[in-house]
Amino acid sequence: MKPKVLIGITGGVAAYKAADVVSQLVKANCDVRVVMTDAATRFVAPLTFAALTQQKVLTSIFPDTSSGGMDVIYPHLYPATEADAFVVIPATADTIGKLANGFGDDIVNCSALSLKTNCKRIFCPAMNFQMWANPIVQDNVTKLLKYGWHQIGPEEGRMACGTSGRGRLSAPTAIAQIILNSVY
Ligand SMILES: Cc1cc2nc3c(=O)[nH]c(=O)nc-3n(C[C@H](O)[C@H](O)[C@H](O)COP(=O)(O)O)c2cc1C
Repeated sequence: MKPKVLIGITGGVAAYKAADVVSQLVKANCDVRVVMTDAATRFVAPLTFAALTQQKVLTSIFPDTSSGGMDVIYPHLYPATEADAFVVIPATADTIGKLANGFGDDIVNCSALSLKTNCKRIFCPAMNFQMWANPIVQDNVTKLLKYGWHQIGPEEGRMACGTSGRGRLSAPTAIAQIILNSVY
């Protein structure tokens, strides 16, 4: 059976790189679903991910219809409860804070609350280096690691905002390989 990978996309410039990761996972025979925060949809269109996965992309915890089965009426539970791996790419400072503190107010963090215990949880931070160095962000990262999350990156380098430092999203190929190693 194909491994089920749920990708959560949040609102940073690096969101476009998540398309490359998704494409590589689909080619590697994973069953990939995508959930996006409202902010993420400001950076990349959900249609990009729908086209790559040939599956509906979820952008809200509320269904867009009042009829249908469990998988339609409960977007915060399906596909999350069935995922073998849940990966947040890129993970914004905002979403890292919400994940670390059990928020359930959007489809990405609410999906994270619904994962099965043995689902691999991975986050790939990307942000300005000063945001990354902020002690509140670092406290939230430590908290996620304490709860069993795996962290990929961020890397040193030049960022879209014109500065350099630690905050760049890790290379999509490296992220895809770590996900594949975790599900195969
Ligand atoms: C142009 C632009 C780029 C941004 N890039 C980032 C980023 O790389 N990382 C980050 O943590 N926040 C970034 N932000 C701020 C987030 O978009 C903002 O905190 C948002 O509320 C995140 O929402 P989300 O975590 O629900 O997706 C950026 C905002 C703008 C306008």
